Amino acid sequence: MTYSAAEDRYERLEYRRAGNSGLDLPAISFGLWQKFGTDRSYATQREILLRAFDLGITHFDNADRYGPPHRAAQQVFGRLLRADLAPYRDELILTTKAGNPIGPGPYSKGGSRKSLLTSLEHSLRDLGTDHVDIFYSHSPDLTTPLEETVGALVSAVQQGKALYVGISNYAPERAHEAAVLLRQAGVPLLVHQPRYSIFDRRPELNGLLKLSAEDGFGLVVYSPLAQGLLTAKYLDGIPDGARAQDSPFLSPDVIDDTYRQRAAALNRIAAERGQSLAQLALQWVLRQPQVTSALVGASSTWQLEHNIQALSFPPLTEPELALIDEYGVHGTGLRL
Ligand SMILES: NC(=O)c1ccc[n+]([C@@H]2O[C@H](COP(=O)([O-])OP(=O)(O)OC[C@H]3O[C@@H](n4cnc5c(N)ncnc54)[C@H](OP(=O)(O)O)[C@@H]3O)[C@@H](O)[C@H]2O)c1
Repeated sequence: MTYSAAEDRYERLEYRRAGNSGLDLPAISFGLWQKFGTDRSYATQREILLRAFDLGITHFDNADRYGPPHRAAQQVFGRLLRADLAPYRDELILTTKAGNPIGPGPYSKGGSRKSLLTSLEHSLRDLGTDHVDIFYSHSPDLTTPLEETVGALVSAVQQGKALYVGISNYAPERAHEAAVLLRQAGVPLLVHQPRYSIFDRRPELNGLLKLSAEDGFGLVVYSPLAQGLLTAKYLDGIPDGARAQDSPFLSPDVIDDTYRQRAAALNRIAAERGQSLAQLALQWVLRQPQVTSALVGASSTWQLEHNIQALSFPPLTEPELALIDEYGVHGTGLRL
């Protein structure tokens, strides 16, 4: 059936400015890391992605690695762009990332100019677009001079293949160095993409939140629901089809008694506020002004619709935040 976007798509979400740039991103963005590939029907994936756009999500996060298998998530999005979203391309912020291993040999991994720009070419072909809106270095590569990695990001912009650049998983010191080099090259760092949630407090502990304000880049924080651990789904076991059951990235071992006690306590705090744990967890990351967007995944349209309602609750109060601190222990559910 021909797709026509919801007329009211810009009325549901808040849009936030990314650092010192002129670009606004939706407070909730959508990522295609898992379950966007050959393991589920295209119809289901299409339904979720189009629902996201109808709800006001303009920002879709991708990477050469996403699938399964690698590259499949971008090919899925490319198909959707050709078939349904082509008339809306100018309303979309499409990202890709390069640098994490995606194949054999020395050029399908790392931060060299060769691997980053080769990956970008493949991603543009898979997505079926002549440019992405944000091109990221997916992870720091300490064996490659930062000047070379940053130079490849700058080239992508100069060649018209990316409008903005980002980095992901960089420790604050290296992020600062990258921000300085990019500024000198006239291509300011738009965003950094770190993991951040009630159970992963690293951006608070290592100073990244503070640095982003000083250096003027935004934070697009990933896994704000700790891959589903910050929802009520694992309180009574592992439901069929849940990520902890079928993903190599979330081991069932992390769902232990300590996790369950903390998640149950957080769930009670959320219930007192009349919301779900997932909604509380999203509001919690978004309380930080440096956080431009919370980057979520979803395996159904229900999850997406439910999670977006997080934006309609009153802000968390100081006593609530103190209570959350008690149970939001850094490292819960994570292999650090
Ligand atoms: N830069 C990087 O290195 C990096 C790394 C990881 C992720 N990311 C980006 O961040 C995006 C989001 O990561 P993520 O998927 O881990 O985020 P997340 O939002 O923490 O977890 C999403 C998963 O939680 C479950 N879920 C979501 N809402 C739920 C609800 N209301 N009730 C119950 N379960 C719910 C679903 O899993 P199930 O239903 O399948 O259990 C869903 O796929 C990725 O797609 C990717 O774009 C980037």
